[in-house]
Amino acid sequence: MNKVSDNVVEFDAVTVCHGRVEVLRGVSFSLKRGHIFGFLGPNGAGKTTTSYTMLGLLEASEGRCSVSTKRIGFVLDKQGLLDDLTLYENLKFFYGLSETSSKRSDAQRIKELINSVSLDGCDRKLVKTFSTGMKKRGELARALLIDPELLILDEPTSGLDPVGQVDFRELIKRLAVQKQCTVFIASHNLSEIEAVCDEFAIIDGGRIKTEGSIGELRASGKSLEEVYLEMVRP
Ligand SMILES: Nc1ncnc2c1ncn2[C@@H]1O[C@H](COP(=O)(O)OP(=O)(O)OP(=O)(O)O)[C@@H](O)[C@H]1O
Ligand SMILES: [Mg+2]
Repeated sequence: MNKVSDNVVEFDAVTVCHGRVEVLRGVSFSLKRGHIFGFLGPNGAGKTTTSYTMLGLLEASEGRCSVSTKRIGFVLDKQGLLDDLTLYENLKFFYGLSETSSKRSDAQRIKELINSVSLDGCDRKLVKTFSTGMKKRGELARALLIDPELLILDEPTSGLDPVGQVDFRELIKRLAVQKQCTVFIASHNLSEIEAVCDEFAIIDGGRIKTEGSIGELRASGKSLEEVYLEMVRP
């Protein structure tokens, strides 16, 4: 039997409006604990709106969105680091704001996180001097500061070089397996979703077009690209 507690996030027929326009229409899906969920769809489909709703930044006008944890790390479409601080200062600042902060181990924890996103040697540099990909790596480190139970990642690898993308996949898989972290990834990178995710859904025009498990998709002999094009091509 599938216990409710196995789902960290549940969207049940969620509708969200921007002004009078419905941009999510009756969206339902759930995120299982320790699973990685890929969310795909064309520009303007509703991926970022879904991330914001999960974070409580937007409210459902109909339906129900429940999230069973407050320990949420996120990388959103807007820059999440302060430009005029160094990377180290940024992480210290955000760590200081978190409830789980333990002063004694601050420096060690921040160092480990910087290493985990391969930004060693960049900790004393101002974030405004970083490249796009370096900022993304820094943001991922910030998202991991609180040892999240749920990670919401909106296009986390856009701008990352190929090694950065592979490192990202390994890091996310490790978090899911070793720490039972639940991960939601909105992305346009189909091969990344296929390589890293357990489940996926495709959204278009604010409606879920299809969802399934990557394992079943593989067993069916279809690629995610084929399914995606079938679902979103006019
Ligand atoms: N602040 C806003 N005010 C009004 N409409 C908005 C606002 N933000 C988003 N929208 C609209 O909501 C719809 C969904 O946008 P959303 O940003 O969720 O798409 P997305 O799937 O993340 O797209 P992308 O792949 O381009 O990031 C779009 O039609 C967009 O125009
Ligand atoms: Mg978006």
